[in-house]
Amino acid sequence: MYVADDKRYHSMQYRRSGRSGIQLPAISLGLWHNFGGVDNFENSRAMLRRAFDLGITHFDLANNYGPPYGSAEETFGQILKKDFLPYRDELIISTKAGWDMWPGPYGDLGSRKYMLASLDQSLKRMGLEYVDIFYHHRPDPDTPMEESMGALDTAVRSGRALYAGISAYNAKQTAQAVKILRDLGTPCLIHQPKYSMFVRDPEQGLLDVLEKEGVGSIVFSPLAQGLLSDRYLKGIPSDSRAARDFFLKKKDIGEATLAKVRALNEIAGQRGQTLAEMAVAWVLRDPRVTSALVGTSKVSQVDDNVAALKNLKFSAEELRKIDDVLAGK
Ligand SMILES: NC(=O)c1ccc[n+]([C@@H]2O[C@H](COP(=O)([O-])OP(=O)(O)OC[C@H]3O[C@@H](n4cnc5c(N)ncnc54)[C@H](OP(=O)(O)O)[C@@H]3O)[C@@H](O)[C@H]2O)c1
Repeated sequence: MYVADDKRYHSMQYRRSGRSGIQLPAISLGLWHNFGGVDNFENSRAMLRRAFDLGITHFDLANNYGPPYGSAEETFGQILKKDFLPYRDELIISTKAGWDMWPGPYGDLGSRKYMLASLDQSLKRMGLEYVDIFYHHRPDPDTPMEESMGALDTAVRSGRALYAGISAYNAKQTAQAVKILRDLGTPCLIHQPKYSMFVRDPEQGLLDVLEKEGVGSIVFSPLAQGLLSDRYLKGIPSDSRAARDFFLKKKDIGEATLAKVRALNEIAGQRGQTLAEMAVAWVLRDPRVTSALVGTSKVSQVDDNVAALKNLKFSAEELRKIDDVLAGK
């Protein structure tokens, strides 16, 4: 039987999500990869246990995480039942709908029909009565935003979710969504954007909107899917995400990118960190970032990413050096 480490709250840092009552761990764990039906169940279980033992109270899912679609939620549901039910009230569990999930016109994008049916399916797969956060996974250009936000509001009002979130909305869309949700009486808790040293789009207005509106941010792929680590410095390991050549493509690991990774790896070493640790610390340097949402394929990566918290401070000189590397100088 799993008994959580009684020191689990000793060293994790928690940050408030915007102007809300919810604090999230500075590092959260996402189940996009390595928790599907094709993956090793005991490895998935060990990573979740280790994460919780280190104070990671937030696990992030979506309807179509797997493969196959839905299976990460099923895996999570089984592990929850075996290990985490006594700790349910210590956990923030999120899921999302917005990408392709089932065939036909009601299994994708942002209709009320799709979003609420998907949430019901997610709850069933995970064996939960409610999720803590339900996200619209991406904006739907053809559905009125009032309809998609209305579905989030219904999810909360009906007790299937405690809070509403959005993902991949740009700054302008975010301002609009936040207003609609506020008018409906269900404030937007959090936004989930992609953000890392390699992908800095949220700096172009999104983080400003979130700060002004009092909405938190949980930034995904802070390691750029593993590129911002020492994983690819000596080629492409056979057990790596790039080896699968699907979400992270082999062609994305060219010499120009590797030169930057090597230079960043050196700066990380001077800070006494691995590059993965520095990549996590770098997104957390901005107080508008509530949590760094990492993925892992092995327990040691959970430990390494959490070790980032030992040094979150960057000098102006270090930040300038990093910017120079990223600019290819
Ligand atoms: N809202 C959205 O649209 C959206 C989109 C994508 C992701 N997400 C969320 O964000 C989460 C994280 O995304 P991500 O998996 O792309 O994040 P990431 O943290 O940038 O990449 C995770 C990968 O990096 C490698 N890695 C992790 N820690 C490492 C370490 N300490 N040293 C060396 N390599 C390390 C592993 O790759 P290997 O597998 O090669 O070992 C791991 O699978 C997802 O699970 C999901 O919850 C949301």
